[in-house]
Amino acid sequence: MSRPALLGGQPVRSTPYPAWPVVDEADVQAVAEVVRGGRWGRLGATQVHEFEKAFSAYQGAAHGLAVTSGAGALELALLALRLPHGAEVLVPAYTYMATATAVLRARLAPVFVDIDPDTYNLDPARIDAAVTARTAAILPVHFGGLACDMAAIMDAAHRHGLRVVEDAAHAHGARWNDRGLGTIGDIGCFSFQASKNLSAGEGGMLLTNDAESYTRAIEYHDLWAGGMLEREGQLGRGSMRSGAHWDYPFAATSMRMPTYQAVLLQRQLARLEEQTERRARNGAYLDGLLEDLEGMTPRRRDPFATRNSLHVHVCRYDAAAFQGLPRERFIEALNAEGVPFAAGYGLPLHRTALFQDRGGELARFWPRNDGAPDVAYAQGDCPAAERLCSEQTLWLSQNVFLDTREGMEQIVEAIEKVRASAGDLVRDSDL
Ligand SMILES: Cc1ncc(COP(=O)(O)O)c(C=O)c1O
Repeated sequence: MSRPALLGGQPVRSTPYPAWPVVDEADVQAVAEVVRGGRWGRLGATQVHEFEKAFSAYQGAAHGLAVTSGAGALELALLALRLPHGAEVLVPAYTYMATATAVLRARLAPVFVDIDPDTYNLDPARIDAAVTARTAAILPVHFGGLACDMAAIMDAAHRHGLRVVEDAAHAHGARWNDRGLGTIGDIGCFSFQASKNLSAGEGGMLLTNDAESYTRAIEYHDLWAGGMLEREGQLGRGSMRSGAHWDYPFAATSMRMPTYQAVLLQRQLARLEEQTERRARNGAYLDGLLEDLEGMTPRRRDPFATRNSLHVHVCRYDAAAFQGLPRERFIEALNAEGVPFAAGYGLPLHRTALFQDRGGELARFWPRNDGAPDVAYAQGDCPAAERLCSEQTLWLSQNVFLDTREGMEQIVEAIEKVRASAGDLVRDSDL
C-alpha cells in the first residue's frame, strides 16, 4: 500500500488540472483593438449588443441584456417584473449569497426552501408548503449547472400565480429537456465572473423571451435607457426618453457592460460549446466511476437534465466509509494527492450572519413590517442544506473537467488510496 502524500508519500498526480481562464494571443489582440479605438462604453458602440445577440441565441432566448455582474442581473430581473413591494420570493437554501441579497435589494423578502439532498437543487415538493398569500416569485438556482426540475417548478408557479426567475449563474450551455437553462422561466440570469464557465473576469446577462420584461430591465439598468430603447441597431444615439432631456422617469442605476468586456466574452463564447461538451463527457464518466465507490455519492441525474455544464461537480461524502475520516481531513489528503476537492458553501443562506442580524443589517433592508423581520430563518428550517454544508459535500470546479479521462481516473485512484490509509490519517490527525 503506498503512503498517502499527506503523510510524506508520492502524490497520485503531480501536475495541476487545466488552468482557467483559457486565453490566447487573438483574445489579447481583440481587446487591445477596442482599447485603442477609444470607444469603451456601450452607448454609441455595437460590440455589447452583438454579444447580447450571440449569447441569447446560443442559450435560446429572444432577448439578452448584458450587465456588470450576475448579482446585478438578478436584482434587475426582480425589479423588471415589478413585484409588489415586500412580496416573498422562494429561494433555495443552498446557493451563493447573491441569490438572496438580490431579493432584499429589490425590496422583497426571501423565504428559503430546502433542497433535494440527491440533486442539491430546490426541492419542488416543498414549494406548496412555502407559498403564502404574499409569495410573488420563485428563484430556482441550477446549482453547478445541473437543471432544476423546471416542469414541477413551472407547474407550481402557474398554480399559485407566481413569476419565475432562474439563477443560471452556473449554467452556460446547460440544458433542460434540450432547452437552454435561463430561457424557461420569465427571466434567466447569468454571471461572467472569473470562475464561471464563460468569463471576462466580471459581468452578467439577463435573458428573457418577454419583450416587456426586456424593456423594463433596460430602463432599470441604465439611467440613459431612452438611448437604448430608441436604438435597435443604432445603440446609444438618443439621450434619455425622446424630448425629455434630463428628466428621469425611473429609479434606475448604471449597470452597463463596457465594450472591451463584451469583445472578450465574444471570443470566449467561441470556445464554450467545445468546453461544455468536454466537461459533460468527463463529468458523466467520473460519475459512472464514483457510483461504484462506497461513501461517494454523485448527484442524481434526472432525464430532464439533458446537459450538465459542470460549473461545480458535487458529490456527497460519507465518513463512515472512510473509517470515520472527517470530511475536512479527507479534503486535505486528496489535495495532497493533487485532486482539488473543496467543501463548498459553509452555511445554508438562512444561517448566514446577514439573516441572523435581525435588528441590524437585515432590518435595514427588510422591506415590510416597519423593518422588523417577520420570517424566522431558524436552524432546522432546511435540514438537508444544513447537513450537506456542515459535513457531507465535496466540490470539484469546472476546470478539472477540461482534463482527460485519465484525469478522471486519477481522482478515483486518489480516493481509493486515501481510503486504504484512512485509519492512519485519522490517527495522525488525533496527534
Ligand atoms: C448561484 C450564483 N448566483 C449569482 C452569482 C452572482 O454572480 P456575480 O459574482 O457575477 O455577481 C453567483 C456568483 O458566484 C452564483 O454562484
